[in-house]
Amino acid sequence: MSGTPALAHTREELAGLLAAARGAHRRVGFVPTMGALHEGHASLMARARAEVGDGPVVVSVFVNPLQFGAGEDLDRYPRTLDADLEICAREGVDIVLAPSVEEVYPGWPEQREPEVTVEPGPLATVLEGRVRPGHFRGVLVVVAKLFGLVRPDVAVFGEKDYQQLVLVRRMVTDLCMGVDVVGAETCREPDGLALSSRNRYLDESQRLEAVYLSRALRAAQETAGYGPAVALDSARAELRQAKAVDLDYLVLTTPDLRELPAVVPAGTEARILVAARLGTTRLIDNLPLVLGTAREER
Ligand code: PAF
Repeated sequence: MSGTPALAHTREELAGLLAAARGAHRRVGFVPTMGALHEGHASLMARARAEVGDGPVVVSVFVNPLQFGAGEDLDRYPRTLDADLEICAREGVDIVLAPSVEEVYPGWPEQREPEVTVEPGPLATVLEGRVRPGHFRGVLVVVAKLFGLVRPDVAVFGEKDYQQLVLVRRMVTDLCMGVDVVGAETCREPDGLALSSRNRYLDESQRLEAVYLSRALRAAQETAGYGPAVALDSARAELRQAKAVDLDYLVLTTPDLRELPAVVPAGTEARILVAARLGTTRLIDNLPLVLGTAREER
């Protein structure tokens, strides 16, 4: 298929479109989103296309109320379906699923969560999960539902939401969902700021200071060869320059978000993650790095 994507609002419409699009022996690629699409999402669609070749690529646009806590930005989360459809068309997406809340949660609003749900386990209580209780349960419930609706062979998630990616992988493994989960590298502005739908909330001076998040991660990456302490120190030094950045966490973990051992052998792969508030906007970012044990030359 090519041209304008077919738009489905209900399960029935989606099932009909998928049956026609799947054809014989073609892999289905899937990119779940909450809309407000930007070039970061476009790169996920391109990755899905690369994974499935001429198989159908499906994008969902659904602002999932279950993953927003009280006082979070559910109501002000941007809804821009027309612009989203244009990006999907440009990226050669075949089907866009844009369901109502009632379509995804039939008991809504009396019954918020489905009776049978997904328990995300201990990884959902650290980092983002610590400040956003219930967030990852909401994410995994909707991702499980969307996987059930779309039945993708491969699903692409951005590394920008790294904890989400790790938890989706965990769910797919632990519940034998049979979906290949692909993590796609974070897209960045020329100065390094990770693309995010929330960047539009930053005023001019906050936008200037937001760059220190990625600068901190880059500094850690560049000094990681000297070991974890030096890497964290160089990141902190960058962050200290940003007066408006209210740091929530800056941590080094294993690639699957577990605690690093006290002594790391040279060549240990790790992840550095940061979260901070600029005014009322919360930003997150992360990068991979390889830790070493070299001595620092001062
Ligand atoms: O990353 C997002 O946009 C959302 O958390 C997701 C995966 C679409 C689930 O609502």
